[in-house]
Amino acid sequence: MTNQYLPIVNRAYRISVAPMLDCTDRHFRVLMRQITHRALLYTEMVVAKALHHSNRRNRLLDFDAIEHPIALQIGGDSPSLLAEAARIAEDWGYDEINLNLGCPSQKVQSGNFGACLMAHPELVAKCIEAMSNATKIPVTVKHRLGIDDLDSDELLREFVDQLAEAGAQRFAVHARKAWLKGLDPKQNRTIPPLQYERVAHLKQQRPELLIELNGGLETPDACVKALEIFDGAMIGRAAYSHPLRWKKIDEIFYGEPANSLTASQVIRGLIPHAQNHLNKNGRMWDLCRHLVQLVEGIPGARLWRQEFSLKSQKAEADLYVLEEAARQLEDAGH
Ligand SMILES: Cc1cc2nc3c(=O)[nH]c(=O)nc-3n(C[C@H](O)[C@H](O)[C@H](O)COP(=O)(O)O)c2cc1C
Repeated sequence: MTNQYLPIVNRAYRISVAPMLDCTDRHFRVLMRQITHRALLYTEMVVAKALHHSNRRNRLLDFDAIEHPIALQIGGDSPSLLAEAARIAEDWGYDEINLNLGCPSQKVQSGNFGACLMAHPELVAKCIEAMSNATKIPVTVKHRLGIDDLDSDELLREFVDQLAEAGAQRFAVHARKAWLKGLDPKQNRTIPPLQYERVAHLKQQRPELLIELNGGLETPDACVKALEIFDGAMIGRAAYSHPLRWKKIDEIFYGEPANSLTASQVIRGLIPHAQNHLNKNGRMWDLCRHLVQLVEGIPGARLWRQEFSLKSQKAEADLYVLEEAARQLEDAGH
């Protein structure tokens, strides 16, 4: 193995929030930053070809300084377009660029990227090499255990070896295979069973590689266990559906002082971001749709969520929606 494993912003990757289309946009990332200052946040997947057109870059790439450390996830199969994307990511200030090799959707397959690229390790290695040569920021990958019948431990190890040789600096492994035909993306996140032991076997065989475990990590305790073996734990749906569940991660995983963050504090912390968004003619719902799940497990949570959704979906909704929602929670001691 020839590549150097660079430290990535103080090993932010120990805990990360997975890339999720329609979920991990700027607003959700700023929300997560109220909860953790240290974990690595991924963007939604951006298609490399779309970045080629400079007039679309602001919309696709802009992020707020508080979102650091942040990784841009990219989809594509062209070494030259991906190299260009890596250069752009670095210029834009991203801390890392991550290639999507795990998405099984039909749309992504028809563009020949995502999980179907696991059948073409030589091409992926060329992409990684081109990206690594184009940028100084770390180039990382996210992939599955395998696809369809290409699903043995040996193939997985060979795949990872080839990409490490080409310059990939970290491997986020979604611990299940994907069936490219017959299952849709949602089914591909539930039906193929999780096989943590296969990722552990890979780490055992390649202890020098940085390997992040992804898939089904529901609690901070599960991440503590994962980190006994792996270099990182990546959380997807459980971060999106239960953001406040993760309020102790800076304390547990990065040695930061304890905090007793509440939902109302998170909401108040988002007011400057909401103001910026409104100033740019954005709608409150763009942000508020991610906040609905913030309040759970307390008396009246359902009613709070219903009212909050109704009010923040209105075209004329403004900061008052957040202020009122925070006040209601504070009055109830949250
Ligand atoms: C709504 C949704 C969108 C997703 N979009 C992406 C994506 O853009 N790129 C990607 O690599 N994975 C994507 N994923 C997969 C997640 O990153 C993650 O691998 C998967 O949800 C398993 O982790 P979890 O069990 O912690 O949710 C998506 C998952 C969900 C639920």
